[in-house]
Amino acid sequence: MKELRLLIMLLLALSGSAVSLPAMARAQTGESASRFFPAKDLMRVGVYYYPEHWPAEQWERDFAKMEAMGFEFVHMAEFAWAFMEPEEGKFDFAWLDRAVSTAARHNLRVILCTPTPCPPAWMGEKYPETFLVGADGRRREHGSRGNNALADPTYLRLSNRIITELAQRYGRNPAVWGWQLDNEPIAQPDYSPSAEQAFREWLKARYKTIDVLNREWGAAFWSLKYNRFDQIRIPNPSYLYGPSPHAILDFRRFTADQTAKFLHWQAALLRRHIAPAQWITTNYISNIGSSDPRRSSELDFISFTLYPVSGGHNLGEDGFRLGWQHGMAFAGAFYKPIKGATGVMELQPGQVNWAWINPQPMPGAVRMWLWHAFAVGCSFASPYRFRQPLYGSEQYHYGIVGTDGVTPSPGGLEYEQVAREMRVLRTKYDPTAKTPPRYRARRTAILWNHENLWNIDQQKQTGMWDTWGHMFRYLEIAKSFGAPVDFISEADDFSTYPVLIAPAYQLIDEELVRKWTRYVEQGGHLVLTCRTGQKKRNGQLWEARWAEPIYPLIGAEVSFFDLLLNDGKGQVEMDSSIYEWNVWADVLKPFEGTESIAKYANQFYAGQTAVTHRLSVKGSVTYIGVQTKDGRLEKDVLRLVYKRAGIATLDYPAGVYVDWRDGFWVAVNYSSRATDIALSERAEVLLGSRPLKPADVLIWK
Ligand code: GAL
Repeated sequence: MKELRLLIMLLLALSGSAVSLPAMARAQTGESASRFFPAKDLMRVGVYYYPEHWPAEQWERDFAKMEAMGFEFVHMAEFAWAFMEPEEGKFDFAWLDRAVSTAARHNLRVILCTPTPCPPAWMGEKYPETFLVGADGRRREHGSRGNNALADPTYLRLSNRIITELAQRYGRNPAVWGWQLDNEPIAQPDYSPSAEQAFREWLKARYKTIDVLNREWGAAFWSLKYNRFDQIRIPNPSYLYGPSPHAILDFRRFTADQTAKFLHWQAALLRRHIAPAQWITTNYISNIGSSDPRRSSELDFISFTLYPVSGGHNLGEDGFRLGWQHGMAFAGAFYKPIKGATGVMELQPGQVNWAWINPQPMPGAVRMWLWHAFAVGCSFASPYRFRQPLYGSEQYHYGIVGTDGVTPSPGGLEYEQVAREMRVLRTKYDPTAKTPPRYRARRTAILWNHENLWNIDQQKQTGMWDTWGHMFRYLEIAKSFGAPVDFISEADDFSTYPVLIAPAYQLIDEELVRKWTRYVEQGGHLVLTCRTGQKKRNGQLWEARWAEPIYPLIGAEVSFFDLLLNDGKGQVEMDSSIYEWNVWADVLKPFEGTESIAKYANQFYAGQTAVTHRLSVKGSVTYIGVQTKDGRLEKDVLRLVYKRAGIATLDYPAGVYVDWRDGFWVAVNYSSRATDIALSERAEVLLGSRPLKPADVLIWK
């Protein structure tokens, strides 16, 4: 999928972008972002439009069509810098004024964007230092997008000016609903001189003295040892054999911080001029690993982009048309808890143009994704884009209308249908509806820190390890139990979740172990999985037994770990059932009072423990040391954990998601088979029918 493709590109390029930015104004934080989105509106449906791509005579027709199709907002201008500032310091907003007012006349709220991903040709010509430098050592050039050095003072100066112009002009315009900063900030590695300088400053702020840096980086190894910060180069894996994993980890932290800093700086510029009712967000790629959306804490909320059908097999024979089943479930669970609101800023409207293979989505799938967006808590959703482009690098990419500019695509008709259905559902909204207690009781949190991902991926130990895939397995299990899932961070309150899963939580400190321990003592059910606790935050191993700081918590010793070949046939036994594994096996030695609930059944450690379970006075800790081939063992263990905790679980098939939101139950089906959803006798079906067919939606109260 596109996200993965980008992720891989980024991992290959790995670097950072540096910024010395003015002090940032604090966001209006503290209040939940839900204040921008009245619950009774449920989910607003809008669309992307590029007025600068089309003759001005067609705008009226296009906005009228959007209104007629039921769209409620329009998203514009993230790539239009060359039209706003055709020559350095000469601005032209007449066209955007006209587009905004035409949209408003058609009852479309406007999301405006800062155009920072696409500087005009004059900038690159006059100030080539504004481009980032790739891992290949080459400076990027004009002709694409998202190619800038975020630490370059000239890029920042010119960005400051265009953002301020926009904020002053539209910040009080009642047609403007909110702002998107930049586009899909993917924390691109940058090896430019400005990035290197900023990296050094970042390191100096973190470590204060070079001696501390040498210690934290383990710089005695291979005589890495530095005398001064200004000797430090950005570690570039394309030039270095075995770069320091500690330096790489810091470079990834720095790169994500720089991206967040750039966004916070933009937000502060906007906030000097915009009305408090206008919100500020950005659109992160749904599962990108290089940027860390949580670091953008000064935005009002974080939205995301999602392209479910992009050449992957997914589930079952029709999975390639139904779409990536984890995408929406993950994005809602990940982005909404950050600030209490989210939306899907870009959603695939039909066939795309950039995947390895670009199939047609299954009829109905676009509608299903939209209703799934609603189910996972999105306050808005918009397809990328209204019109199919006739030119440019996104030819072949579907829009809501086709190449003639007027005929709706199949996905366009599905959007229109959802916009209609949403209006009907709003009439059924009951503000007094309360989360059903049995659903609430299953609340599950997944503890997530991007730094684990960055560090593990640097030294996987087996080419078969997939950090995202490992996490998705646990998400899928919790969803199959019918649990509402939130991704949370270490700073969050664990105690409101009866179950907390920390998958492959490699980097820890003693404070985190204490927080986990308190959670368990107070009645929480903690599930840790393989690789957890191996390292300190700086990526160094403990000078202790392997992962020893978690021994008292899990009630066991992690003696060693083992990895098999890709055709390896490792076996684990639980309750007389045999499960196969070949990716990862932590071999455990339970202490007295800790139960061994699964054991290895072959290899030289047959009979030793793969999964432990320890009861505390009120809660429990389960350590799942193995990753099996099909995830059945993990699911059976978790079912036992929930059962012992007195939490009733359901058993939905893979790819079937059932969520409750604002008084409505919503079921969607990404599997290739119809499935029945049991409803209570009092249930009133509002949309859809049973059994639930693939690509279909069932909504009831
Ligand atoms: C997104 C990007 C959009 C557009 C789209 C095409 O990743 O943010 O600008 O390129 O892909 O599918």
